[in-house]
Amino acid sequence: MTFRNITGTFDVLPDESQSDGSTVPGTSAWRHVERTVHDVMALFNMQEIRTPVLEPTELIARGVGQLTDIVSKEMFAFERGDTHYVLRPEVTAPVMRAYLQHHLQQRGGVQKLYYIGPCFRAERPQKGRYRQFHQFGSEIIGTPDPRADAETIAAMMAVYRALGVTDVRLRLNSLGDETTRPTYKNILREYLEPHAHQLSKASQERLRTNPLRILDTKDEKERALLAGAPLLVEHLGDDARAYYDEVKHCLRDLDISYAEDPFLVRGLDYYTHTTFELESPNLGAQSALAGGGRYDLLAEELGSSVRVPAVGFAAGFERLFLALAAEQVELPGAASPQAFLVALGDEAARRVLPLAHALRREGIRTGLDLKGRSMKAQMREANRQSAAFAVIIGDNELAAERAQVKRMDTGDQVEVPFSELARMLATGVLPTQA
Ligand code: HAM
Repeated sequence: MTFRNITGTFDVLPDESQSDGSTVPGTSAWRHVERTVHDVMALFNMQEIRTPVLEPTELIARGVGQLTDIVSKEMFAFERGDTHYVLRPEVTAPVMRAYLQHHLQQRGGVQKLYYIGPCFRAERPQKGRYRQFHQFGSEIIGTPDPRADAETIAAMMAVYRALGVTDVRLRLNSLGDETTRPTYKNILREYLEPHAHQLSKASQERLRTNPLRILDTKDEKERALLAGAPLLVEHLGDDARAYYDEVKHCLRDLDISYAEDPFLVRGLDYYTHTTFELESPNLGAQSALAGGGRYDLLAEELGSSVRVPAVGFAAGFERLFLALAAEQVELPGAASPQAFLVALGDEAARRVLPLAHALRREGIRTGLDLKGRSMKAQMREANRQSAAFAVIIGDNELAAERAQVKRMDTGDQVEVPFSELARMLATGVLPTQA
């Protein structure tokens, strides 16, 4: 019997690999992207937070919303004893939980947090859509200032720019405040009800429970029907409209272009005011690279006695990699050793172990043969691993405490005393005379 990874998940190997017809970049590419996220978030003065992958089911149900697809259809949830667990489908509700639980407001000022980690949704797997996927994102908690919305969008866009993804489109909308939505829901329901028989089964259900979600339908017939629908943005109150105008103003000041999309409602229920999505035209059906918005009511939904205004975004690594590939951005491969020790004979095979250890203590990435292979096979291995230098040691070299150092790309070779190996390898330059 053999085992395979679960469909909709994938292994990340040292080198690029294939999984269910998709290319999975190697670990070095992942680390490059992760490092870029850390660096860009540091530029925006965001601090990292790590929350558990397991959360109470009720947190996600209340936070994301009972009627959303994520909660009603896509949760990996289970029980042990009296506890209901869920593998987190997203990180915003968990971050808000942590903020409330640890009274992070006591740190003073606005909390600017970011995260990187796996999320889980039981969706039908396809290109760019997985059951275990990986997000990075930020949450700015504790301010109702529209500039925080702009900073969030700017931080999100800066990651793509830093990585070399340029072909992106930002869609923007406002869902208004807590009074806008219920009013508009009724207006939309009134408009759609006479056409209910033309709606899909799913949309008929939504018409009853959550008509706003019909707005982002992909069904052409429903879209045509919606073309004449009253728009939420037309029903914003004065404050919500002023807020939205200010966000747009800030984005223009930041030279961030956007397209307003009155149908952008997003699949999570916690949003108020600003919502946005970043898309790539290169991704096909799963075109959303990232999305987010303001969620001023989430904290109270999670039991806070005070309002905690907040705004954030989250982005998927897998779709980011698709966009990088579409734009033919080169990503770094695995780091190769600076030195590969080649031992000739039993005595040398023993002695290269402490020698490798000494070099590593000096910070030299060092590989060696662990199979007792022939010199030819060891040289081939040095080559396969793209080692900069092969360090060849036999009985003569041991006696003289000197190694033959061969530069792999040119084939040049000189003798270097053991005592000078680390210094020489660190410079990466072969001395003309040792
Ligand atoms: P979301 O739009 O559900 O928002 O997910 C954000 C991003 O995660 C998506 O744009 C997509 O790139 C990626 N993603 C989602 N589901 C999958 C999947 N099954 N496979 C691959 N990638 C996926 C949120 O999660 C919100 N928490 C965003 C947010 C943060 N709002 C405020 N703060």
